[in-house]
Amino acid sequence: MKDIKIESTLTVYENFNELPSDIASLMEKAIEARKNAYAPYSNFSVGAAILLDNNQIVTGNNQENASYPSGLCAERTAIYYAGSQYPNAKIVKMTLTAGSRINQTITPIPPCGACRQAISEYEVKQESPIEIYFMGETGKVVKSDSLANLLPLGFDRSFL
Ligand code: THU
Repeated sequence: MKDIKIESTLTVYENFNELPSDIASLMEKAIEARKNAYAPYSNFSVGAAILLDNNQIVTGNNQENASYPSGLCAERTAIYYAGSQYPNAKIVKMTLTAGSRINQTITPIPPCGACRQAISEYEVKQESPIEIYFMGETGKVVKSDSLANLLPLGFDRSFL
């Protein structure tokens, strides 16, 4: 018997202004996308922006439904759109921002487990890492060099 240790290293930027300019402009796209979220039930709006290796930018936001489980997170809205419109493009970077209409969101909001699994599929498919940056409405921005870094012991095609 032995223990295994799983470690991830993340980078934390103190605020939006510390971001490199290309990431700041991708984050601006996510902020714009967040404004169009359809979130009448949770009042929690999420925006996502994806940069592809063909230089296209795809954005998405959460889309809720009166039948709650039928709604979809921003990350999956964006990534499935990217996969459907640009099936041969690689996803290079993804920025995420979330904010509540009820109280100000100052902590970085990471992608939920289901979205990590969905993003992981594309990272495995394209055999190159997807950089992910996530924040609240304001405050710190967290960067992960890859999705795998956020999903230890992930399930992928190699197990099938
Ligand atoms: N949500 C996202 O869009 N992304 C996440 O990673 C976490 C949660 C959405 C789903 C729902 O519309 C609202 O935030 C509250 O859970």
